[in-house]
Amino acid sequence: MAAVNLPSELARGRLLIVGGGYCGSRLARQVRADGGTVQLTHRQPRDTDDLVLDDSTGQRPDPARLAATTHLLVTAAPAADGLDPALRLLETELVRWPLRWVGVLSSTGVYGDSGGAWVDEDTPLPAASAGRSASRRRCEDHWRSLGVPLQILRLPGIYGPGRNPLAGLRRGEARLVHKPGQVFSRVHVDDIVGAILHNLERPAAHRPPLLNVADRRPAPSSEVLGFAAHLLGVPLPSFQWYAEAEAGMGPMARSFWQDNRRVSSRRLTDDLGYRLRYPTFREGLRGCLREEERQGPDPADRRPADH
Ligand SMILES: NC(=O)c1ccc[n+]([C@@H]2O[C@H](COP(=O)([O-])OP(=O)(O)OC[C@H]3O[C@@H](n4cnc5c(N)ncnc54)[C@H](OP(=O)(O)O)[C@@H]3O)[C@@H](O)[C@H]2O)c1
Repeated sequence: MAAVNLPSELARGRLLIVGGGYCGSRLARQVRADGGTVQLTHRQPRDTDDLVLDDSTGQRPDPARLAATTHLLVTAAPAADGLDPALRLLETELVRWPLRWVGVLSSTGVYGDSGGAWVDEDTPLPAASAGRSASRRRCEDHWRSLGVPLQILRLPGIYGPGRNPLAGLRRGEARLVHKPGQVFSRVHVDDIVGAILHNLERPAAHRPPLLNVADRRPAPSSEVLGFAAHLLGVPLPSFQWYAEAEAGMGPMARSFWQDNRRVSSRRLTDDLGYRLRYPTFREGLRGCLREEERQGPDPADRRPADH
């Protein structure tokens, strides 16, 4: 992990990450490598320093351990009942913390289906949303109502080392599914970390309350898989039309294929001057392969990318 200059307010502050999963642990690793102080929560602690926060059991850390939190990143998704675990367990206390920044990882799923058109932060959301997108919207609104210094980061499909199509191809389990005209947007986990740190280098008044974080190149999943196979030098799996594959998909996978949109993050790159480390899946997958060959897939996360 390359050293970066930690934003000075983070170097002096205390970061709490609710949800030390894929993104949370990657940010924590970077901040710690640069000398910052981070506390992570898990439902099941993995390390003696981990805090336990689990909304299904109501377990939460001793309030005294969190009272000095200056920066809070929430990565835990809304629970099955649609409520944000961090809000459910910490809302009454966090409004008393000396917070200088609250980042909430949300989803570009809230934009719904744009028929493949570009969407940005000013694009009106659909009149009605259902399921996970409706929960996301309610949680975003709930966070806005608290009056904390908030940045909501809307993310498309997250990939990176240990979470990408390479492992599935190596195991012969990848599926080459194609739906004409369908694209997915995606973002490398290190650009989520990079975008957060870039924002924290800016004065608080210049951090937009809403920000998409996506790469420049929405693409069909078949194109990404094709490039991954090319990188590995393995044959492509046999081709399947989406219309045939759909019946064998679970509800989660099917819901991803329902929406077709291109997510713009020009506010981040053009207005805020963030330089994407992985502007497209091509650089991103090459980076994943390099890191996996060096270290092996991240044991914390071996799931495939969502799309
Ligand atoms: N995956 C994608 O492609 C994608 C796309 C767009 C948006 N997002 C959203 O971006 C966020 C970060 O994604 P990620 O991939 O880093 O997620 P992740 O790897 O699944 O990590 C989520 C973290 O939240 C914790 N958590 C989950 N549910 C919880 C609950 N009910 N109570 C307490 N803690 C809970 C988990 O605890 P444990 O450590 O104990 O498991 C884990 O540490 C999530 O909100 C995700 O839905 C993901």
